[in-house]
Amino acid sequence: MADINASIAFDKTLWRQDIRGSLAHAAMLARVGLLTASEEQEIREGLNGIAEEIANDRFEFSQELEDIHMNIEARLSERIGEAGKRLHTARSRNDQVATDFRLWVRDAIDGISGQIAALMRSLATRARDHAADAMPGFTHLQVAQPVTFGHHLLAYVEMLSRDLGRLGDARARLNECPLGSAALAGTSFPIDRHFTAAQLGFDRPTANSLDSVSDRDFALEYLSALSLLGMHLSRLSEELVLWCSAPFGFIRLSDGFTTGSSIMPQKKNPDAAELVRAKVGRIAGDYMGLLMVMKGLPLAYAKDTQEDKEPVFDATEAATLSLAAMDGMIRDMVADTGRMRDLAGTGFATATDLADWLVRVPRLPFRTAHHVTGRLVGMAEAKGCDLSDLTLEEMQGVEPRIDRGIFDVLTVDSSLASRTSEGGTAPENVLRAAQLWLDRLGEN
Ligand code: ARG
Repeated sequence: MADINASIAFDKTLWRQDIRGSLAHAAMLARVGLLTASEEQEIREGLNGIAEEIANDRFEFSQELEDIHMNIEARLSERIGEAGKRLHTARSRNDQVATDFRLWVRDAIDGISGQIAALMRSLATRARDHAADAMPGFTHLQVAQPVTFGHHLLAYVEMLSRDLGRLGDARARLNECPLGSAALAGTSFPIDRHFTAAQLGFDRPTANSLDSVSDRDFALEYLSALSLLGMHLSRLSEELVLWCSAPFGFIRLSDGFTTGSSIMPQKKNPDAAELVRAKVGRIAGDYMGLLMVMKGLPLAYAKDTQEDKEPVFDATEAATLSLAAMDGMIRDMVADTGRMRDLAGTGFATATDLADWLVRVPRLPFRTAHHVTGRLVGMAEAKGCDLSDLTLEEMQGVEPRIDRGIFDVLTVDSSLASRTSEGGTAPENVLRAAQLWLDRLGEN
């Protein structure tokens, strides 16, 4: 029973939040007259002393005492006697753990959000440097149209900004205080839940005591937001892995984020990127695991919810590591802009520009222009040359209204410069977008 029941091995992670919650609870009890001022002072000093013991590794955690809440409370009574035994007035471990865990998740959201903003800043900085540098743009992983490297990096800044938004939304909904719901029904003591909520930085108390002690939506929302974040980081990792492989050769990752091979002396493996690519597996697994714990639970508290902590701690660690590694890789990577530019023009990447010219100048309907361009691409393919290497006569053989002006739109640079529609890849757009992000994020 002790082995399956005790949670101290992992919930000791909540010690700071537990002490914070107890300090607020004691202050509230004193305010409404359930503790004397001197009892509250004894409790405060006792809890601060315990915090020091834990911080300095001088606290003895006991499995018999089950969890962090009982460990701290027992130690408090040991230290200060009678007053310590009064702390649990108008409180249950059910509302206590719900409060501690909300505080922990709120802190975690703040930490992860700061890391996301830092990564966005690194990406936007690199995007500004490479605002005009061409790279092949892909659909179906086939060369499609030229884009700029900066534009590609900024796509990830957009994804991360949505992750930041989702975490912010989760934080806003999380920020209600369950403390004072007691075991499930509320309490007969004249407590002031608004005071406790304010002490702990919550916007207000939760509204329904049954919901308060059994709700873990806030943890699930957090894990769901982390799963999407992990998915984005996994996609970026996959691109880094592709980009640094020799057949692509777009970037070099630094020695700091790669490893050698024990047999092949020339190898430089992108292990950090691969591990970030993989971490989403754990994170999404943690999300699904807790979702399955919660499904089918009757109201109100049930011990099942003790299983909420490990997935949240695990996913937080995975996300924290992933963000740190990704930030390092992005800051350190060196782009081979010449190689990317060379490849940006391959695969008839400016065929769409040719079709657009036919629409703009001789005013062919787009479908017709698409067909004409297809024939020209076929011709170039047969000759084994680029579109710009076809002669004017050859082109006019397919469409007599083509003139010399067409050659102006067949280069990578002209293609890039023409993509000025909102959100498009034109270097001037990309520079503006990168600067906008850096202004919003506060450059450092
Ligand atoms: N360790 C428990 C948890 O994490 C604390 C709440 C225990 N409540 C109870 N009624 N046994 O859920």
